[in-house]
Amino acid sequence: MTFQCNDQSMLDDWLTVGPASRLASATEARPFQTRLLGAEVSLLRSGGRPVARVDGQDVMVLEAYSYLWVCPSGKPRRTLFAFPEFHEEGRRIIDCDGIGVATSGLRMVENFLDMGHFPYVHANYLGQVPMTEVPEYDVEIDEVNDEIWAKNCRFFQPRTSKSATTGIEVGYRYRVMQPMSAMLYKTAFSRPQEQDAIGLFVQPHDEEHITAFCLLAYYDDVSTDTDLISFQHTIFGQDKPILENQVPARMPLERGVEIPTRCDAMSVAYRRWLTERGTSYGAIAANAP
Ligand SMILES: [Fe+2]
Repeated sequence: MTFQCNDQSMLDDWLTVGPASRLASATEARPFQTRLLGAEVSLLRSGGRPVARVDGQDVMVLEAYSYLWVCPSGKPRRTLFAFPEFHEEGRRIIDCDGIGVATSGLRMVENFLDMGHFPYVHANYLGQVPMTEVPEYDVEIDEVNDEIWAKNCRFFQPRTSKSATTGIEVGYRYRVMQPMSAMLYKTAFSRPQEQDAIGLFVQPHDEEHITAFCLLAYYDDVSTDTDLISFQHTIFGQDKPILENQVPARMPLERGVEIPTRCDAMSVAYRRWLTERGTSYGAIAANAP
C-alpha cells in the first residue's frame, strides 16, 4: 500500500517517522516497521545511512536532530527546518519519544500552541486558576523560512519544569516550522536569561491517528533524564484525552467554525497559514461540502 494522501503540500514535506535510535536493531531481514500517511514504511540502516522503503521501493529519508524524516514525494518543497539549539553547547538533548493520540496532527500542533488551556488541563504545572488570562502577544510570519512565530508570550506557571521549585512568570516563544512540526522556547528555570527548547514532531499515521514525539534541548543541570521524560509524558498525557474527545477529529479550516477568541491569535495565524498552503490532510477543507 502506498501513501494514502492527495495533499501535495504534505507529500512534499519532511515528516518524521520517529527517533533514529529505532534503527539500532533493524536489519534487512527484520526492518523497523511504522506507518506514515496510511502506508507501511520499513526502516533500516545500510552503510551507516538510513533507508526507508514503501512497497519495496526506496523513499527519500534523512537523519537530523536524532530523528528520521521522510519526504513521501521525493521532491521536498524546502530543506528541513533549522534547529540550532540542538547543537548549542551547554544544552542537554533529551529524547522523550512519542505518545500515540487518536487525533489529527493539525489538532495536536494547535493544542501545543495554545496557552489558554494551561490552568485547566495542566493545573498546578503549567497554569493555575484563577490566573487564567492569556496576555496579548505578537504573531509574526517569517516569509523567508515560511514559518510562524508567536513572541513575547507570558504566563504564570506554578511548576514550569521538573526542576522548578517555585512558580514563576514564564516567557514563551512558539514557532511553527511545518504543519506538523513546532517548537516552544520557554524560560529556563535554572537560567532565567536563557530559554529551553522543546520540539514537537508529529508522525501522522493517518488523518486521525498520530504519534507526537517530543525532543528537549534543555539547560536543566539537576533533573535526571527519566525525570525530564516523565514530566513531559505527564503533560502530554493530560492533553491526550482532551484531544481524543474533540469532535470532529480533523481540523475544520472553514472561517467562522470554532470561532477563536483574542488569546487564540496564534491559532488563527496557524489555520490561515494552513489554508494558504493548501493543507487538507487531517483537515476539513474550507470549501468542503
Ligand atoms: Fe497541553
